[in-house]
Amino acid sequence: MEGDNEDEDVQLEARLEEQDTFEPPESFVEQANVSDPGIYDEFEENWPDCWERAANLLDWDEQYDQVLDESDAPFYEWFVDGKLNASYNCIDRHIEEGRGDEVAIEWVGEPVDETWTYTYQDLYEEVNELAAAFREMGVGEDDVVTMYLPMIPELPIAMLACARIGAPHSVVFAGFSADALATRMKSADSEYLVTCDGYYRRGDPLDHLDKANEGLADVDHDTTTVVVDRLGEEGFGHDLNDDQREYADLVADQEGAEVEPVVRDAEDMLFLMYTSGTTGQPKGVKHTTGGYLSYAAWTTQAVLDVEPEDTYWCSADIGWITGHSYIVYGPLALGTTSLMYEGTPDYPEKDRMWEIVEDYDVNQLYTAPTAIRAFMKWGKEYPADHDLSSLRLLGTVGEPINPRAWKWYYKHIGGEDCPIVDTWWQTETGGMLITTLPGIGTMKPGSAGPPLPGIDARIVDTNGERIQAGQAGYLTVDKPWPGMLRTLYKNDDRFIDEYWREYSDPDSDKWVYFPEDGAKIDDDDYITVLGRVDDVINVSGHRLGTMEIESAIVGVSGVAEAAVVGGDHEMKGEAVYAYVITEDGYEGDEDLREQIVAGVEDAIGPIARPEQVVFTDELPKTRSGKIMRRLLEDIANEEELGDTSTLRNPGVVSEIQQKVKGD
Ligand code: WT7
Repeated sequence: MEGDNEDEDVQLEARLEEQDTFEPPESFVEQANVSDPGIYDEFEENWPDCWERAANLLDWDEQYDQVLDESDAPFYEWFVDGKLNASYNCIDRHIEEGRGDEVAIEWVGEPVDETWTYTYQDLYEEVNELAAAFREMGVGEDDVVTMYLPMIPELPIAMLACARIGAPHSVVFAGFSADALATRMKSADSEYLVTCDGYYRRGDPLDHLDKANEGLADVDHDTTTVVVDRLGEEGFGHDLNDDQREYADLVADQEGAEVEPVVRDAEDMLFLMYTSGTTGQPKGVKHTTGGYLSYAAWTTQAVLDVEPEDTYWCSADIGWITGHSYIVYGPLALGTTSLMYEGTPDYPEKDRMWEIVEDYDVNQLYTAPTAIRAFMKWGKEYPADHDLSSLRLLGTVGEPINPRAWKWYYKHIGGEDCPIVDTWWQTETGGMLITTLPGIGTMKPGSAGPPLPGIDARIVDTNGERIQAGQAGYLTVDKPWPGMLRTLYKNDDRFIDEYWREYSDPDSDKWVYFPEDGAKIDDDDYITVLGRVDDVINVSGHRLGTMEIESAIVGVSGVAEAAVVGGDHEMKGEAVYAYVITEDGYEGDEDLREQIVAGVEDAIGPIARPEQVVFTDELPKTRSGKIMRRLLEDIANEEELGDTSTLRNPGVVSEIQQKVKGD
């Protein structure tokens, strides 16, 4: 088997290796939602009014007066004075159009054969009942409701119930730790939590409420918690306390309730999403109702080519921005069928995803390079066993995709008949900014593509001057767009510092957004994103702050100092490498290593678990005492090191190198 696989791969590579560009298949172009290349000029010439095209995808209670207000830049306002409700746009209006019996969410559980179908009508009923229950619990407009839920239908239902009553949600990824939950609830002054008893991971029930309770114990203010019973009989027999309600009871008590969607201002907060930054404190990214929702809907239509009659599958977790924009808001605003999968790609078998694609006739699949690398490793026979001919488009997001993985995806999943969109964006951007349009653009494996119409992305040098094609520089975005974050929650100063300080010129009112990514550009204006240039690493498409991990490590007794960097990893893209100095009297032994790993899991979650812990007596530092992270990265990657003579302690380098190699 293995041998066959390799032979095939070699042949595939021989044939595809030479090919650097791919044209969208004719059959796709003919039906594409966007197929006129004139769209780029059209947007540029009509900017910012071009964005009405996105706003027009929504139903507004009151039409906006102005597309963009730049008077208080970079605190931009979009669709000024427009009024709308996101839950109405994602549910009610489709029912009013007579599409209530069409499927909104196809939920596929981890246990095989445990599935659930929600039509738009079903979704309407449960969202209304939960919204009524939230109200009765005291949730008011603008109260932040935290959700700490895995991939179960109650998660999008709770998000939409919040949107209905104008309560912003803050979803915390279920894989995050109790500490991470507490930090986020405290930061958002969130008095409400929706969580569950537990969920399945590779067949085993996992206790989630225990973790939630541990987090709640750390929150000083009063809280009310709603608990979904996911596991039923297989659960852990938790007793709920006085501040906790059973989700099923709440909804049953409100049977048939209807809640008028609250009229929200376009600029009112739809949700908060915490993400990692350079400092130890996560950033609360604020997204709005009008701009975000129009942008999510527009990009879902233009880039993912979603139409109401499609069955579309984004395999991300709703706990990240990808799931917010492209499992919940974009697809449901367009009235399509969004598939939601609870489990992992390799359970019970490595063909689980292909079985789902076949069973549900999935039309678009949007996944991450880390998953594609895993599929490649498992072998082409898993997809080959299934009929994947329903697929019309493939997408990737989260990290750079190497051309080899791109070509494998193209051939073995797409059957050389589906365009691939490699979409660059961030939690902060709300939706995609850089990618080819699938019905128009030539695809170049490894390169995301040109900026989307209306997006002014550039590659510049440290002075902000555009660089020549072929050279590496920094990615900037010189004009605002509707889906952009508006600020960091209750922290306007940090918002300016993090995103606008670097390349803007406030004196001449010129504001340039800096996403902190490095990139290259080619002669056709195609952008290849190279990765973060700040102290953020990308593990399996998940964004982690090195400072957060370092502070977790120094919290372990016996640790004096720690430096964390990302080292290349075949499957994960990057992996966490921790260099640790112990306190006097402590050994850098297996025991301490285990405590460090546990410390990181407790503070953040298993995704941040260090791949390697390297104990060392010293860290390489500059004369001014700054840790040389670049050097530590090169050591992790076993790369040629540059000049180390400017270090205060050059001798430490070879000592660390030997330890990494010896591991
Ligand atoms: C960072 C944002 C966007 C949702 C998932 C991640 C990296 C994202 C790509 C891509 C190269 C990419 C960037 C970015 N990234 N997509 N197609 N090619 N790099 O959201 O957690 O906010 O992380 O992910 O470095 O800054 P996020």
